[in-house]
This record gives sequence, C-alpha cells and structure tokens, in this order.
Amino acid sequence: MVSTIGLALWLMATGCVAGYITALRRNIAIARKTGFPYYVYPIYPMNVIWQLTSGIWLPIIQCLPKSWWEGRIIPMLRDWSYTTNQAFFDWAGSETVLVVGPDDIVCHTQSADVISQVTTRREAFPKDIARYSLISMFGQNVVTTEGPIWRMHRKVTASSFNEKNAAHTYLEAIDQTRGMLSHWFGGEKRDNDSSETILTLEHDTMRWALNIIGYIGFGLRLIWPGQKLPDDPILAKYGQLEPAPGYTMSLASSLAGVMDHIVAILLIPAPVMKYLPFQFAKHGYTSRENWQKYMRDFLNDKIGEVRRGERERVGMDIMGGLVRSAYGEKPTTTVKLTDDEIISNAFIMILAGHETTANVMHFTLIQLATNPAAQRRLQQDVDALLGDTDPSTWEYESHVNALLASHVGAAVNETMRTMPPVTTIPKIVSASADQTITTNGVTHLMPSGLTINIVPASVHRNPRWWPTRPSEITGKPTDLEDWVPERWYRETNRDAATSTANADLDDGDDYGGFKGSDVSASLFRPVRGSFIPFSDGPRSCLGRRIAVVELVAALPVIFQRYSIELAVDEWATDDEVDRMGAEERRRLYAKAQKSARDTLSAAASIVTLKLRGQRVPVRLVKRGKERFVADPEL
Ligand code: HEM
Ligand SMILES: *[C@@H]1O[C@H](CO)[C@@H](O)[C@H](O)[C@H]1NC(C)=O
Ligand SMILES: *[C@@H]1O[C@H](CO)[C@@H](O)[C@H](O)[C@H]1NC(C)=O
Repeated sequence: MVSTIGLALWLMATGCVAGYITALRRNIAIARKTGFPYYVYPIYPMNVIWQLTSGIWLPIIQCLPKSWWEGRIIPMLRDWSYTTNQAFFDWAGSETVLVVGPDDIVCHTQSADVISQVTTRREAFPKDIARYSLISMFGQNVVTTEGPIWRMHRKVTASSFNEKNAAHTYLEAIDQTRGMLSHWFGGEKRDNDSSETILTLEHDTMRWALNIIGYIGFGLRLIWPGQKLPDDPILAKYGQLEPAPGYTMSLASSLAGVMDHIVAILLIPAPVMKYLPFQFAKHGYTSRENWQKYMRDFLNDKIGEVRRGERERVGMDIMGGLVRSAYGEKPTTTVKLTDDEIISNAFIMILAGHETTANVMHFTLIQLATNPAAQRRLQQDVDALLGDTDPSTWEYESHVNALLASHVGAAVNETMRTMPPVTTIPKIVSASADQTITTNGVTHLMPSGLTINIVPASVHRNPRWWPTRPSEITGKPTDLEDWVPERWYRETNRDAATSTANADLDDGDDYGGFKGSDVSASLFRPVRGSFIPFSDGPRSCLGRRIAVVELVAALPVIFQRYSIELAVDEWATDDEVDRMGAEERRRLYAKAQKSARDTLSAAASIVTLKLRGQRVPVRLVKRGKERFVADPEL
C-alpha cells in the first residue's frame, strides 16, 4: 500500500520534473532562434506566484554568493526598469535581452532601433491585449481591442482629438489651475505671501487632472471647494460637489472613488465586493454604483439632446461626440458603437488621461522646487512670453507653440523622460507569422507569439541614444538620471541620428490624433524610439496633444506669480529660517533637496509611476517673497 502511494508520488514528481524540463528546453530553443542574448530562470519573473511571493524569496537568494545572482536577478525585481536604470542591460551586454522561464518568455528592449520598428509595424507587432481584458469592464474600447475592431473604436474616438478641442482644453486647464491656486491659498480673497505647507501635491494634482478630464470626456465643468458653478441644468446635476438627487455621491467623488479602488473593482466581482466587511470594499462598491448610474443617466441625457437636435455644447465632450456618431442624423460611421461601448470609451479616456497627466504635473512641480535654477529659467521664459497679462486673456493659437518650445515644454519633457508614467509597453509578435527585426546590421528572427516588452524608463536614460555630460548632482559619469531640462536645448547627437531608427517607418495610414510636431527646429530632437512616454506609431497615445497642452497651460499660471519651494519644516521653524544667513539657508535647503531626490527615486509603478505613500512637502510663495529659490547660488 505504502509503496504504491510512494510509487505514484515518484511518478508524479518525475512527470512534473520532466514536463518542467521539456517546457524550459522548448522556450530556450525559441529564445535561441532570435539571436539576442537570453537568460534562463527557474520561474518566469512575471508569473503571478512569483510576483506575490518574491518578498519571501529575494532575501534568501541574496544570502547566496553575489556572483550567482547579481545582474541576473534584476528583471525579477519590482520596478526594476525605473529603480535599476541601465544595470540589467549593461550586465547582459545588450540593449535587447530575453528572459526565459519554463512558463513563458519575454524580450525586454531598450534599443531605440528595435522600439521604433516594433511600434510602427502594428500588424507585425500588435498590442498584447490579453493583458488588458480586465479594463474592458464596461465594454470594449479603444485601449483594449486590436485589429479591425480597434480601428473602428480608434476612428470614432479620434475625431474628438482635434486642434479645436485642444484649444478648449487649454482654456479649461488655465481655469482649473487658477482653482487649484486659490485652493492652496485658502480661497479667492486671501492675499498671503506664502501658502501653508502643502504636505503632498498628489491629491491636488489628481483633482486638477480629473476636473480637466471631466471636461474633456463629458463637457462638464467640475469645481474646487469654494468655487461657484455656472448656471446650467446639466452642470447642476453632474458638476456639483454634493450628490445629485437619487445618488449618494457626487459624480466627481464617485469617479475619484472608482479610480482609488480601480484594482479591487476590476478584480473583485461587484456582488462579492458589496458584502465584503472592509472600508475599501464598501467605498469602492458605492463609488462604482454611483458612477455607473451617472454614466447611464448622462448617456440618456445626451441621447435626448441629440434626438431633439439641440445644439452641440461648446467644449470638448468625447462622450457627446460618440453619442452623436451613433444616434445623430448623419451617422459618421457605418459601424455604430453600442451604449456600453460609448460608456466604456468615455471611461477609458479618464483612466488613460487622469493619473498619467496628474503624475507629470506633480513631479514637474517637485522637480522645479528641487532645482531652483531651472525654476528661474522657466519663470524668465514665462515672463518673456506672457508678461503680467491676465491668464483669462491667454490664447491657445498665439501661445501654445512658443510655450512648447520654451523651458516650460522642456521641463515637461524632462519629467516624462526621467519618470515616464507608463513604465512598460507590452507588445507581441503577430500570431500569424514569425517576424524579423534589424538592429546594428544584424537581422533577428522574432518567433510568432513572443512577448516584447518595451521599457521606456530604460531607453530614456540609455547613453547610446542621449547626449550626456558628467552629473553635477551625483558625480556619476552621465547626467541621464538627473532632471536637467536644459538638456532639451543641447545639440542633437548626429551619430545616433543616422541610425535606422530615424528612417521613415510610417505606413502612411491615418490613425487620428495629433500629427504636427511640437518642435522648433533648434531644439534637441531625440532619435526615434528613444523618447516614448506616449509610445509611438499607430497605437500611440491618442491624448498626447491634450496632455501636453494641459501641462504647458498650467505651469505658466502658477509661475507667472508664484515660486514653489520645498518645505523645510522637518529641519527648522519659520522663525529659525528668518534668522538664518544665506549660507545657512543653502545648507538647510540642500537637506530638503536630497530628501526630495531620494523620495522621487523610490517611486513605484502602481498602474502608473507614482510615489508609494511617500510625500514631498512644498510651499507656494509669491514671487519676490522666496526664502530659498531666488538665491542665485542655489
Ligand atoms: C502625460 C500623460 C499621458 C501619458 C504619459 C500617456 C501615455 C500613453 C501610452 C504609453 C499609451 C500606449 C499604451 C500601450 O500601448 O500599452 C497611451 C495610449 C492611450 N492614451 Fe495616453 N497618455 C497620457 C495622457 C492621455 C490623455 C490625456 C488621454 C485622453 C484624454 C489619453 C488617451 C489614450 C488613449 C485613448 C490610448 C489608447 C490608444 C490606442 O490604443 O489606440 N492619454 N497613452
Ligand atoms: C493667511 O494669513 C492669515 C493671516 O496671517 C492666516 O490666518 C491664514 O491661515 C493664512 N492662510 C493660508 C491659507 O495660509
Ligand atoms: C519635447 O519632446 C517632443 C517629442 O520629442 C519634441 O517634439 C519637443 O520639441 C520637445 N520640447 C522641447 C522644448 O524640447
């Protein structure tokens, strides 16, 4: 009896081992075909079991001799591309490396050459949409589909992303930034030289981006506490800070609640969530219920408006646009979106455009506070372009290109280079055929079905594609880890510029979205594939123009009249600072700068790259009343 069980167990174990070895050998054979270096792992690093338990294993592994795991362990770490920068690729001696496990293979690349080929050849390297199945929660949409269905969604949604709407977004971003400023200063009437210490900007930049996206997605004006709503029935219903009749939350807070608990909402079925005895589950569930009810109501109101032939609302209103394309008199497409698809697309715009843009705003403000010289240069450009004109008179057409080409645009670019909100862009080799990629004069076979992981945080700091100087902050041989907006005024690296990455790879088809350049010819132009915060090619970000317009509209509103300083409360009281001489203030500020840099370097990717519970406290001060950042020695 015992021996029978023993025999069965032995057979099972050897069966498992044999299966494991066969699978590993099959994957090794696939990896070898590519001609890129590959490394074999006992478990695939993106395996869920590893992801959940790596905290237990990593310390054990690190007790082994360093030479066994150093380098090799990197892709098994969370957020390795951001936190370890070039280390893995340097260790492997290649810009494109395969990681092979028994259960799967992934090809990581930080080669601008490879990236530009993969992103521009959409049919050969489609999006790995299996990973997005969760976020089609309300129906199919432009982010979660591929092939002809994606083209249909892209076509219908892209029509809202035009220059007319970019101009509306510009004005809305100015207004929302003024709302945020008055919130920081405790209401419209106050006239203090300095705000109180703002412990973290994260919540305010999130609200800022949410209010703008509410406008972009739904044509709604959302307000800051203390602001008054314009007189309008639709706004009265959806734009209030209080719940509309029949609801338990306002639209804005239900949306914020959905965003806060997005992972739980996507993973846990609603009926289960309803009865879970946790605060997050209750809040997540209620937010979702309110949100869905708002969306259905909103859709019906819009359909009513369209049926009654009411005039289009002014401003950008993606959902209104989708409703018109499906219910309007002259249908704009042969295939119509269903109600669920309309809601799903409106929702995905919020998901894609809210936190991404908020993070860039958040980190740019912190970096400007941390780098006073860059802040002063940005203020000079803002002064030269806008003087002391009132922001309510600023015009998209006359200002936006100049702002994009100024230190304002450079600061935004530099934040997206050093801290790209989206840290991995997953692609897959077409299921229908093997493909080839050419780099450094060698043609590589990419077997059908292989996952390709494009790593923005790495290629953005790859010295092969970016001109570098020794770091003035850390003393490292390159300054690519530092936030240096002046970099965007350096001369283009002509050597790199002649690589195949710069060949014209576009298929000439129109996928919508903004096609003009944000460039002025004299600026530094990254090699194609080396700067990809919005990805590239047909599946690149539809909201790229909108996002940069929001950011370059907002920063001048703040820096025309204010400066931003790191708060130093942790080390000194206001009275102590008042009594300090210049030298002592510099030493004090250096502590705050070091602390801010350390905090930023510990950012983590939770859907997007952001601070994990940490904060960088700051103060807004009237220009001329700075305690630190006006000091030319800083
Ligand atoms: C700084 C802000 C933003 C960044 C860094 C960003 C980044 C990206 C990236 C990397 C992708 C490609 C994702 C992939 O292939 O897996 C993407 C796609 C997309 N983004 Fe953005 N995004 C931003 C803002 C926005 C905004 C404001 C909107 C809308 C209002 C938006 C709408 C979209 C849409 C619809 C797609 C899917 C396009 C398609 O698959 O055809 N994004 N974005
Ligand atoms: C502005 O200054 C007044 C008077 O000094 C103070 O009571 C108030 O709290 C300050 N408000 C803010 C937002 O800093
Ligand atoms: C920011 O990057 C974009 C994309 O490469 C470029 O077109 C633009 O000119 C850059 N802005 C500045 C100020 O360099």
